[in-house]
Amino acid sequence: MREFIFKANKTITSSNINLKDLPGSCGRLDLLCRCVSDAFFLSHDIRRDVIFYAVLYGQPNPPVCLKFVGSELKKVSPDERNIAIFVKKALKKFEESDEDQRNDWILSTPGIYVRRNDFRDLILEKINEGKNIYYLHKDGEDVENVDIKNPVFVIGDHIGIGEEDEKFLESINAKKISLSPLELHANHCITIIHNVLDRKGF
Ligand SMILES: C[S@@+](CC[C@H](N)C(=O)[O-])C[C@H]1O[C@@H](n2cnc3c(N)ncnc32)[C@H](O)[C@@H]1O
Repeated sequence: MREFIFKANKTITSSNINLKDLPGSCGRLDLLCRCVSDAFFLSHDIRRDVIFYAVLYGQPNPPVCLKFVGSELKKVSPDERNIAIFVKKALKKFEESDEDQRNDWILSTPGIYVRRNDFRDLILEKINEGKNIYYLHKDGEDVENVDIKNPVFVIGDHIGIGEEDEKFLESINAKKISLSPLELHANHCITIIHNVLDRKGF
């Protein structure tokens, strides 16, 4: 299983999504949708061994956590607009739930869940499940030299993950790994990680 946690610092947390303005008024929802696309979609197939989380910190109701499960996804296609429609549905479902229900995963559409959850709590949950946390960062250790087991890959958005959450990742001994000497887009990091693991037969 390959898992990803994407921190979306500015992405909108209401269903008031303007599908014609994903980067602007939706707080880089375009980037989140590209990450989902690159996490799951192959040519004419889908990666069923992937779980992708996005923790949204935009206004008006942060944090909101979305979960996409590859083995359950149906009717989602790789284009940004289509994925944004499913995000909108999930946020609508969240709005219609009461605060108690929000503490557990709420199924929105097949394979897409929504919940009230914080970035750090999600990472601590993953550690409790026996997962290893790998923080993707330009200045980390070269991925080719790292033995990857039971991975959860943490990725920042255009802003990164922020100093406080970097300190948190250090405190839990997350392994910092680099994919390139250059600063890459988050979705490209997902494609590269898949390629590294595919080639290793992981
Ligand atoms: C556009 S970058 C973020 C840039 C942001 N200004 C910063 O300082 O963190 C988006 C994310 O992709 C990942 N990333 C970018 N370049 C990388 C690299 N060369 N190796 C590994 N991860 C990388 C990191 O997780 C980063 O937070």
